Amino acid sequence: MEGFHRKNGVLHVDNIPLPEIAKTAGTPTYVYSASIIRQQFSALRESFSKFLPADRQPLLCYACKANSNIAILKLLQGLGAGLEIVSEGELYRGAKAGFTGDKIISTSFGKEEEEIKACLSANIHQFNIESPDELAHVNRYAGESGKVAKVLFRLNPDVQGGGHSKIQTGKKTHKFGNSATRILELYKIATEMENVEPVGVSVHIGSQVSTVSAFKPAFERLAELVQTLREQGHKVTRLDIGGGFPIVYKDEDLLDLDAYARWVNDIIVPLDTEIQMEPGRYMVGNAGILLTETLYIKKTQVRNFLVLDAAMNDLMRPALYDAWHGIEPVSNADRTPVTYDVVGPVCESGDIFAANRDIPEIREGELVAIRSAGAYGFSMASNYNSRPLPAEIMVDGDNVATIRERQTMPDLIKGESIPDWLK
Ligand code: LLP
Repeated sequence: MEGFHRKNGVLHVDNIPLPEIAKTAGTPTYVYSASIIRQQFSALRESFSKFLPADRQPLLCYACKANSNIAILKLLQGLGAGLEIVSEGELYRGAKAGFTGDKIISTSFGKEEEEIKACLSANIHQFNIESPDELAHVNRYAGESGKVAKVLFRLNPDVQGGGHSKIQTGKKTHKFGNSATRILELYKIATEMENVEPVGVSVHIGSQVSTVSAFKPAFERLAELVQTLREQGHKVTRLDIGGGFPIVYKDEDLLDLDAYARWVNDIIVPLDTEIQMEPGRYMVGNAGILLTETLYIKKTQVRNFLVLDAAMNDLMRPALYDAWHGIEPVSNADRTPVTYDVVGPVCESGDIFAANRDIPEIREGELVAIRSAGAYGFSMASNYNSRPLPAEIMVDGDNVATIRERQTMPDLIKGESIPDWLK
């Protein structure tokens, strides 16, 4: 069986029991299912092939900030994905995984000189521009390298989407994107520049867009802008309609992909452009768990603390966004539930994965799985409290591979030194 499931009461990923992984890799460890990633990619592709004409199929540029391990990138590259990057580091990772420039798009918010230059030398497909000064920089560095960079302008459609205030990007008070009026000006300015070619417009309204109907007005505003640009004599040949597809963490209303594909077909396809999308979370979120071991059960007068060996530095979504993640025992899931506060060893009260959660009783030394941790899990992990970054494992059927070693103590201080005058 593929993905995460129980066999004889024990949580498995594909054919591999999680206790086996814990024994060899230790804990905390991120465990990913390659088959779930393939399924997610196919689900997106299938919805679009059902509703969009064959010659208008979108390029699905994986937003690798969600999970940028090069093995995950390689898997998606092999499936035919493009890549959305936001830094020179992500460009570097993409190249290591075999992505070629013609499938890479840069959407970073504050593009840095070295990053722009690296993107130019990789001949990336396009730069999505956030501001007039950024446009000037891309033009300047493209000129220095004798190139003409294709640019899109990110629209701020002033709509609300996104599962938490910190991951919404589409309101006019947010730092992202440009008003339609500003884009009309930018298009004109870019047309007069020698080393950029304006080719289109992009939009991205937020992440874990739970109010999925918000996509529709954003697309409509994009379409209106395209009409106006064309009326003013500009060419618009590419549209990038962003990411933000939600996944199930608890009991969320999932995005109806078919409805989404229909909106794309009704609103975007008639504009007769190349179409791109930037899904991150949807591809990998449900494909990963954080496997952790119970260190202690600490009972106080008012609480039962389940103390795990994973902490907020390993998975910061609950601390940062109050995000809800499923938490379950790897074995013995039939025990009577107990109400726990699930915490890690970090010295902050914010180091809490769940409060007042009913979970089948768990004992010291037993394994626990934190679900839906494949996106924005490892990629946001830190060394806070000088805790080594966890290992990452990929499972594919009977295959198990360590795709990132657990950090060691020397790794923790790599690059640090004590000045001579302190020795
Ligand atoms: N495109 C752009 C321009 C983005 O800024 C993002 C995400 C994406 C695409 C991918 O969005 P997705 O399909 O994954 O929703 N750390 C937060 C999420 C931050 C998202 C940042 N931008 C979390 O853990 O919920």
